[in-house]
Amino acid sequence: MSPSTEFIPFARPSLGEAEEQAVLRVLRSGWLTTAREAEQFEQEFASYCGVSHNHTLAVSSATAGLHLALEALGVRSGDRVAVSPYTFAASAEVIRYLGADPVFVDIEPGGFNIDPAKLLETLERQSEAGSPVHSIMPVHVGGYPCPVAELRRAAERYGAAVVEDAAHSFPAREPGAAHGATHGAAHSAADGEPPAILGTGSDAGVFSFYATKTITTGEGGMLVFKTEDAAARARVMRLHGIDRPVWDRYHGRAAPHEYEVVAPGYKYNLPDILAAIGRVQLRRAEEFNRRRAAIAAYYLEHLADLDQLQLPPHHLPQSWHLFILRLDRARVTVDRDTVIAALAEAGVGTSVHYKPLHLMPYYRDRYGLSPEDFPVSWDAYQCCLSLPIYPQLSDAAVERVVEAVRSVCRRYARA
Ligand SMILES: Cc1ncc(COP(=O)(O)O)c(C=O)c1O
Repeated sequence: MSPSTEFIPFARPSLGEAEEQAVLRVLRSGWLTTAREAEQFEQEFASYCGVSHNHTLAVSSATAGLHLALEALGVRSGDRVAVSPYTFAASAEVIRYLGADPVFVDIEPGGFNIDPAKLLETLERQSEAGSPVHSIMPVHVGGYPCPVAELRRAAERYGAAVVEDAAHSFPAREPGAAHGATHGAAHSAADGEPPAILGTGSDAGVFSFYATKTITTGEGGMLVFKTEDAAARARVMRLHGIDRPVWDRYHGRAAPHEYEVVAPGYKYNLPDILAAIGRVQLRRAEEFNRRRAAIAAYYLEHLADLDQLQLPPHHLPQSWHLFILRLDRARVTVDRDTVIAALAEAGVGTSVHYKPLHLMPYYRDRYGLSPEDFPVSWDAYQCCLSLPIYPQLSDAAVERVVEAVRSVCRRYARA
């Protein structure tokens, strides 16, 4: 295939020689599991985010991090956690792992994130019914930031903890940033303190380093807590409920067999091979973010005149993990899946974020839900598609994506 007809995949990690060297260094060190690399990754990540290292834990996935976060904050069987259905399976399954129940709250019209007004109504309703919500889990879908300050105020009013699912949002900062302060490197001292990285200002925040995410370790994640107590609990639960790190067991003075199991913990540690990749990716996070923002800016400019589309929210600092288009179904003659098939035919890979959880058999049947129960999520699902956006996407590929989208819109435009 010539470069002009090669299929453009929906996502692709940006990995180079530095990552390869980092992996080799660990392979040759004789120590493969969690130790110094993971600890340094935690330290560097914490320092990048401006939070304490004691509060930061490298984990095997964001799913593991969300599970640990809820457990450490005290979610137990029978509790309730508010989350929108417009998210990936992980956000709600971790609630069920603990025997608690998700209380779904619809997303806001025109956006993809939990609706703050509906969340407030839900917190009020649950509280009046004597079944208060233990925690809320805002998901920054695609890296588009939730209004965290407002959500924290609502949670505080009802005594709920806040666990941010920041799987998509690294390294975006909380809304309210001064113009140009979207990431550390772009922020000059004259602007004053930059706002916090999304996911770091609540009771807990969880980042994903899954293969398609803004920085990747293949599989992995980072968990950041507000309090040292919660972090200490999660640190023990991260590795079998053992009260001593494995590196210390084999390199400390005391015998390796001397440890106590203080709880039935999990196996959620991040191995050093992956942490070494993460350390390199973290150093490249600003460069990646700039490239994603440049691609987003190109799409926004060159798709703006198409009546058949609504462009994603873009007035706030964001990570641009996803570029989610909405089809205006009144202005096209076909459904979203036909558009996806036509783009694939033109050599452009796309995806859908998300099929809402209340449509999934497990949640639908367990909680007796129908599509109309969360109409904004249901509607978004039917008209959304995500375009390729990642640092390795060349300018030529970005232009081809735009041409393909424009041509498909023309072909299916309602007269
Ligand atoms: C919104 C959201 N939350 C959580 C996760 C879980 O991340 P991980 O694959 O690192 O467990 C994902 C993964 O794609 C996600 O999209």
